[in-house]
Amino acid sequence: MLPYQTVFFDLDGTLTDSQPGIYACATYALKKMAWKIPSDAILRRFMGPPLAESFAKFCGMTEEEAIQASGYYRERYNPIGWKENKVFPRIRQLLAELKKRGAYVAVATGKPKASAEKILDYFGLLPYLDAVAGPVGTEFHMDKATLIRRVLPENAGKCVMVGDTVGDVDGARECGMDSIAVLYGYGENNEILASNPTHSVETTDELCELLCPGMEKGKGYFVTLEGVDGCGKSTQAALLKEKLEQFGYTVHRTREPGGCPLAEEIRKLLLSKEDGGMCPETEALLFAAARAQHIHQVILPKVAEGTVVLCDRFVDSSIAYQGDARGLKRDWIMEINQVALTRGMPSATLYLRMSAEDAFRRRLAESEPDRIEQMGLQFQQKIEQGYEQLMREYPQRFVPVDATKKPEEIAEEAFAKLFSRMIGEGIL
Ligand code: TYD
Repeated sequence: MLPYQTVFFDLDGTLTDSQPGIYACATYALKKMAWKIPSDAILRRFMGPPLAESFAKFCGMTEEEAIQASGYYRERYNPIGWKENKVFPRIRQLLAELKKRGAYVAVATGKPKASAEKILDYFGLLPYLDAVAGPVGTEFHMDKATLIRRVLPENAGKCVMVGDTVGDVDGARECGMDSIAVLYGYGENNEILASNPTHSVETTDELCELLCPGMEKGKGYFVTLEGVDGCGKSTQAALLKEKLEQFGYTVHRTREPGGCPLAEEIRKLLLSKEDGGMCPETEALLFAAARAQHIHQVILPKVAEGTVVLCDRFVDSSIAYQGDARGLKRDWIMEINQVALTRGMPSATLYLRMSAEDAFRRRLAESEPDRIEQMGLQFQQKIEQGYEQLMREYPQRFVPVDATKKPEEIAEEAFAKLFSRMIGEGIL
């Protein structure tokens, strides 16, 4: 039985962290006005009150100037700023769990309803909500109690409002319901605590325990990135990490060979330009040794903690490089990589698909090739064929993405495919 059958959430500072977008848009507007950029402490106060009021109050603008600045702010906020938001960790899981346990879940926000819905939809939170209340049409700056009453169901049972400002606590009291002050948001903690909320929480973990006692921690996920040298994996791994974090996931980015001190030492041997005549078997065994350490020391513990592990290359690289390109038997490669195959296989492998020719040209234009890259185009063509075969053999695990497009387009496609897969597998 849930302690509250009806739960209202504030949006900004409670479900999502909109600070990066708000800072960036306010700074953009101030630059366009050739106005002095205030300190972060002042910019922080922009979160909450209506925009024009903030420009007037915190930057000393006249009403006319403040209206002009608000126009510039929207010039950036409407196309990009609203997406520069971040779902707080475990929020998706909490909403899903409340829904699963039969609660009525709604958002009551000072943001226009349409904008709030757009944000909740983009971040995939809308499906868990029964209602969204926010100002509509020409309505402006509505108080929380009015918004809550708009979507308060009949037979609501025991109700609570969760928020980070005094307005949220007062609104709850006015509606005769309990309140939970979240202290990880933007509200002034002293002020909100002085307003006497029923409960207060410092973290989303505490919030989860309060609203859904005994709720389990989220599951981790293991994703690898693969492709020929020069296909743009590192750029994509960085973009993917950023995006997953925006969507509320805790992410650990790592790489092979390497990822932990011992494996990084092995990496130096493997990629050094003075190979001392390293034979293919030694090479394969060193990759497998580094991998075994990495799996035990980093990958398995991180996934068990509920983290999304993004690993640049993994066992498929050994199959394509040491197997298909260096001519070692695939079976033997599999055998020496038993730790990976039996205990640590990725749930998804993002395959950045690009022809060896395109990738080779790109790679050479960038920097000095390492020992493996020095083996030339023919070698890369064998690797490409190896990957193509792996993709056909493991269609469930391989997620191919066209890597010849622009980096942002590749990132969008990669994230969309991965995110829908994760949601489908209950990785929230
Ligand atoms: P790195 O500089 O990390 O290259 P990239 O950015 O392309 O991943 O170097 C790793 C090199 O090691 C790369 O050429 C691929 C190769 N490699 C193998 O041959 N076998 C393996 O099992 C792994 C993990 C990497």
